[in-house]
Amino acid sequence: MTLYPSSTQEIPLVGPVPRHIAIIMDGNGRWAKKRFLPRVAGHKRGVETVREIIKACVERGVSYLTLFAFSSENWRRPQEEVSFLMQLFLRALEEEVAKLHEKGIRFRVIGDLSRFDPQIVSLIRRGEELTTGNASLTLTVAANYGGRWDILQAMEKLLAARPEKRSGFTEADLAGHLALNYGPEPDLFIRTGGEQRISNFLLWQLAYSEFYFTETLWPEFDTAALDQAIASYQQRERRFGRTSEQIHSDITSPNPEASVSSSTAKANA
Ligand code: IPE
Ligand code: IPE
Ligand code: MG
Repeated sequence: MTLYPSSTQEIPLVGPVPRHIAIIMDGNGRWAKKRFLPRVAGHKRGVETVREIIKACVERGVSYLTLFAFSSENWRRPQEEVSFLMQLFLRALEEEVAKLHEKGIRFRVIGDLSRFDPQIVSLIRRGEELTTGNASLTLTVAANYGGRWDILQAMEKLLAARPEKRSGFTEADLAGHLALNYGPEPDLFIRTGGEQRISNFLLWQLAYSEFYFTETLWPEFDTAALDQAIASYQQRERRFGRTSEQIHSDITSPNPEASVSSSTAKANA
């Protein structure tokens, strides 16, 4: 069971700082191409951005950061690029996990790990175990992840857990088996690199996330760029299906129940 209610079932608590930021880190290849470098140089440089953005999220009090590192469709890329990405992931696991632990960061990976080298899988599992008690930020890396894969695997787990049940499932039943069942749904979804699409990222969990697209290529996305995304988020009115008038009348209402939901009205309330 997920600890966090579904945004379609209950209006989530919303504060000025997004509790969960999910990012499609796109544009590495184009960054490299602009510099007449091989595409993989962009991926290497992208790792530096990852470090900076993790640090900035910790400093800003973000509780969950989810980064799309490799999609279930990225296997379609040239073999050399896929191998380079795997090597880069392996090296990052070897070098970065201890540093994350020192900073009190909890590390998780979501995705279908069955296609990964056993060495990578064991480093992931060790990293997750090592950092499991940490609470400053939960960093999730989505690797060989696809939103459709996630929904299907959740459905299979749900059916295995309740073999007698044939109907009457709730959203919470399914969400409890999604790969990200340990966190709230993303408040803010960012995609760098200019494309305006989800590319099979968190299909279920993005139902009520605020979307932010930027032309900035991932290797150039820095703390200031993150702050711009958060500032844009703070201007949004998160209505979750309600009218703007309802939200504003909630804010002035003396009813204690209404004042709870007033904190859900505007991201910068
Ligand atoms: C994102 O950058 C990184 C991965 C998908 C692994 P890209 O490699 O997609 O960069 P562009 O989109 O080609 O510039
Ligand atoms: C999405 O980027 C996946 C990651 C950033 C890991 P892609 O570059 O693979 O997305 P498309 O193919 O342009 O949609
Ligand atoms: Mg791309």
